[in-house]
Amino acid sequence: MASSNHGIDEGTATRPADLEAWRRRIPILRSLIPLNNCSQAPQTQRTRAAADAYLESWRRDGMDWERWMAEVERARAAFARLIHADPDEVAVTTSVSAATASLASALDFTGARRKVVVTEAEFPTVGHVWLAHRKYGAEVAWTPVREGLVRLEDYDPLLDDRTLLVSATHAYYQNGFKQDLAALAEKVHAHGALLYVDAYQSLGVCPIDVKALGVDALACGALKFLMGTAGIAFLYVRRGLLERLQPAVTGWFGRADPFAFRVNALDWPDTARRFDTGTPPVINAYIARAGIETILDVGPERIEAWTRGLGRRLVDGGRARGLTIHGPEDSRRKTPTTAFVCGAASHTVEARLRARGILASARGPVIRLAPHFYNTPEEIDAALDALAEILPTLSSPPAA
Ligand SMILES: Cc1ncc(COP(=O)(O)O)c(C=O)c1O
Repeated sequence: MASSNHGIDEGTATRPADLEAWRRRIPILRSLIPLNNCSQAPQTQRTRAAADAYLESWRRDGMDWERWMAEVERARAAFARLIHADPDEVAVTTSVSAATASLASALDFTGARRKVVVTEAEFPTVGHVWLAHRKYGAEVAWTPVREGLVRLEDYDPLLDDRTLLVSATHAYYQNGFKQDLAALAEKVHAHGALLYVDAYQSLGVCPIDVKALGVDALACGALKFLMGTAGIAFLYVRRGLLERLQPAVTGWFGRADPFAFRVNALDWPDTARRFDTGTPPVINAYIARAGIETILDVGPERIEAWTRGLGRRLVDGGRARGLTIHGPEDSRRKTPTTAFVCGAASHTVEARLRARGILASARGPVIRLAPHFYNTPEEIDAALDALAEILPTLSSPPAA
């Protein structure tokens, strides 16, 4: 499979090393074309083996908390490595909702700085957490989505000395539009506010260096581009910020020494472990590490280059087939996730694509095709051909 044969710019589309070998480790590729990574990545032999390792340990030993906790620490460390943070700056939680709620519960909304600026591009769960904190004094202001994206200048009227935090998704779940986090961080910090990022729709296909970007806190779960499973998410909190934050969403794993069992003492570790809560999701940690290490082994930069080429192929090929793309078309402003307008019938389209062996993900009025490192240009073309055949057969054709 030579990329030059497929119209992909050789300058940016670096084929991942051992693509065929990686593909052989993803059993579902023998029968289906998974392009639903924005929703759930496929199982690999490695994630399967990780789950089996936990189940075998549990079956064989009955209980091995030392080994299981060590595995949670390995998952924490793998995530930290991926975002260029220290493991002491990473908490292990169970979902992005839980991570956001923990962070929110550590903020003080009683002072003059009580405004939280939230983009309309957030996944609803994130907006919900901030709205729920209005009862503690939070004021929520919205940065609009216009023409499928968030403009940097639209933050300006909302940023002032009353702004406590900006909650900004890195990539928009609806269409893959990507915000310029470095520019946003500069803007936010100029007003003395904090930047919290939801990286669920980007991490794994977009390299992220939290230090270089100047992000204060960031959350991401494991089941999408991190090639893992539901039930585990990570929360990065910048070291300099940690000691100021005492989350009300807490539990015994958030203590300096959980195994001291001091019921009447709320001692905080110096690390992001203060955002850990109850018994961690052990089996999910096994799987998450396997997924994250796959990303690290293939190489985040190579994944970005390859999938950017695949994303561009989706845009160009979609346009050539007369499909309407939702949101930005410039591959530098988006993840590989590409959304095609199909109106009220998006779930029908998802089902019809599945019937043809193609896994896509419907969201509102669009169908999303979200390639990852293991996908090929041929798979992109097959999905686009199928979509171009299905859309005209719908009873309510897509509005442009
Ligand atoms: C950007 C983004 N954030 C958050 C979520 C949901 O997070 P969780 O279910 O872990 O709370 C999703 C799920 O699709 C998402 O796309």
